[in-house]
Amino acid sequence: MYTFTIIKPNAFDKTEQILRRISFEGFQTIGIRSVFLNKEKAENFYSIHKDKDFFSDLIKFMTSGPITICALKKNNAVIDFRNLIGDTDPKEANPGTIRSMYGTDIAENAIHGSDSDENAKKEILFFFPEMESTIQ
Ligand code: RTP
Ligand code: MG
Repeated sequence: MYTFTIIKPNAFDKTEQILRRISFEGFQTIGIRSVFLNKEKAENFYSIHKDKDFFSDLIKFMTSGPITICALKKNNAVIDFRNLIGDTDPKEANPGTIRSMYGTDIAENAIHGSDSDENAKKEILFFFPEMESTIQ
């Protein structure tokens, strides 16, 4: 039903094109904001990756410029959105997917998509706590 996305700093200047594509694919935007993450907020959002060797690079990247955060609604939203963005590594992502079109490399891969319904809700509420009653 819901998913959450971040247009990452390396794709921020492509936000309009990417949002048009997301809408074309049938996702309804129910919340959207452009923000800067500070270190603490980025570390909290990505806390599941805190023991990975790419963690500090990931935090540096995600705090390096503005991002656009969106809560999205569609049937089968999580899986359909993961298919739309493609593999984590843009080089492995199918042609036409958002990461294959706008990603730089596995670290700077243009866009985030929630990996489960449970995490989609957590991520939406992390950035849009006021949507609590909307998405229950
Ligand atoms: P995301 O959470 O951003 O939608 O990406 P994902 O599920 O496809 O990938 P995940 O394993 O959750 O990794 C989170 C983000 O960390 C960066 N990363 N860098 N240098 C590396 O090897 C590496 N691996 C992952 C990427 O920005 C990835 O999206
Ligand atoms: Mg992930």
